[in-house]
Amino acid sequence: MAVIEFQKVTKAYGDEVDVLRGLDLKVEKGEFLTLLGESGCGKTTMLKIINRMVSFDTGHVWIRGRKLSEWDIVTLRREIGYVIQQIGLFPHMTVMNNVAYVLSLQGIPKVKQRQRAEELMELVGLPQEFLRRYPRELSGGQRQRVGVARALAASPEIILMDEPFGAVDEQTRNLLQDELLNIHQQLQCTIIFVTHDIQEAVKLGTRIVLMNQGRIEQAGTKEELILRPANDFVRRFMGTKGFMALLDEKKMKHLYQQILEEKISMEEVYLRLK
Ligand SMILES: Nc1ncnc2c1ncn2[C@@H]1O[C@H](COP(=O)(O)OP(=O)(O)OP(=O)(O)O)[C@@H](O)[C@H]1O
Ligand SMILES: [Mg+2]
Repeated sequence: MAVIEFQKVTKAYGDEVDVLRGLDLKVEKGEFLTLLGESGCGKTTMLKIINRMVSFDTGHVWIRGRKLSEWDIVTLRREIGYVIQQIGLFPHMTVMNNVAYVLSLQGIPKVKQRQRAEELMELVGLPQEFLRRYPRELSGGQRQRVGVARALAASPEIILMDEPFGAVDEQTRNLLQDELLNIHQQLQCTIIFVTHDIQEAVKLGTRIVLMNQGRIEQAGTKEELILRPANDFVRRFMGTKGFMALLDEKKMKHLYQQILEEKISMEEVYLRLK
């Protein structure tokens, strides 16, 4: 049974042009799905439909075999962690209260909330002392980590992430990506991760979904989208960046390891690839 299933889903905001135009997608348990597509193609809308922040017009959506409309909204949101675009921490709350927000809504005792918050800080690689701070007292990358910790608080089976690492420098972004891969492996959860960055989509996704104007152009492994694109749109979108990201992973890491082990010099590698 799919964890999430979209069947011919359509959505328009008022009289605006159609945002989703017959979206079909099945997400299986444990997948790390990366969602790519140009600005305005409907990625955020799709995530918001899943936890019922916005409604859809026609078609069907099922979560774990049950129709979306039949879910109790509190239970649904407890089962789904959401890291929204632009971080979205509550500025007037400490890190502790941000992380434990969902737990406090559930009426979990304070001692347990504290325990869980400490576990989560460790999981996302932040010191416990930060629990006392306010979001404004953290760097951008640290805030992103708190956002991830907050989404994981209630141990959700499904995690929706909307460009969670958009606003940090490349090095921090790489660290956060590696940590998220670890978390995914440890928790065996299902993740849908929206990104603009092809390299990020290739690195993280067990499957990549490429959207265009409210429809899916292709869903498949990185090799399928890059080496066997379904159409010209996919070929153009993935382009040289996709090809380089794929090579990067398979070849560059290996080569760089050899350089570190001094089996080959960086100069030789450069000349060989030139
Ligand atoms: N509340 C709203 N009312 C009217 N139009 C909306 C609303 N929310 C989104 N839209 C429109 O719907 C379209 C899809 O928006 P959505 O936020 O899903 O795009 P996106 O793929 O997440 O884009 P981005 O990559 O820029 O975040 C856009 O054209 C947007 O302007
Ligand atoms: Mg968006």
